[in-house]
Amino acid sequence: MRIIQANDYEHMSELAANYLIDKVQTNPAIVLGLATGGTPLGTYKRLIKDYEQNGTSYKKVTTYNLDEYVGFSPENPNSYHAFMYDNLFEKIDIPPTNIHLPSGTALDLVEECKGYEERIEEAGGIDVQLLGMGSNGHIGFNEPGTSFQATTHIVELAQSTREANARFFDDIKEVPYQAITMGIATIMKSKEILLLVSGESKNDAMKKLMEGEVDESFPASVLNKHSHVTIIADKEALSGVNVR
Ligand code: F6R
Repeated sequence: MRIIQANDYEHMSELAANYLIDKVQTNPAIVLGLATGGTPLGTYKRLIKDYEQNGTSYKKVTTYNLDEYVGFSPENPNSYHAFMYDNLFEKIDIPPTNIHLPSGTALDLVEECKGYEERIEEAGGIDVQLLGMGSNGHIGFNEPGTSFQATTHIVELAQSTREANARFFDDIKEVPYQAITMGIATIMKSKEILLLVSGESKNDAMKKLMEGEVDESFPASVLNKHSHVTIIADKEALSGVNVR
């Protein structure tokens, strides 16, 4: 895993945006895997700014998001659909038909999981998957204990994840208990992975990722087995981490 050290959140976001812009300019029909959460927000802001100022086009780009809350329709302001439209898609020239997120309201969620995998395959797989990491090591909504073999599936959210995500809701009671997420096997099939990590709250997770065992009890550890991972992490996240 290649580690790029950033000074702080803003610097991490700048490096990540430049990284992705370069990928899109080199391959305008790239398939991107995208994430929600606080970590990629600064990156998305910079992609929008670059689109406005330099005209980097997303007309041919296809995107697949990692996850969606079960029971939330795209119209729900707390859905990941809404998050992605508000914070990126609405502000660049990507055609809506190129945008994919799992549906949290599909009548048959098992079928939706299967279909999501198939749609990714049909697009030729994900070229670059952007990831954030939970402080318990989750990637996507793959909580500790998830099989490394799992493909897109329904998960019960860990209480710590519900608590961490409550900041986006008026009340923790509104945070769903279930989500649909790309599995670890889905993520690992991506040709390339870009993991962003920022802040002191991710420092322990960063240590485990770099120094710990590859084990299902810490989902992000699987990234040690992928041949093309770039991590952009800031000083707080990297503090005391033995970068091997
Ligand atoms: C988001 C996702 C999650 C987040 C993780 C970190 O689509 O799948 O794995 O990346 O929970 O969240 P933040 O960035 O808010 O710390």
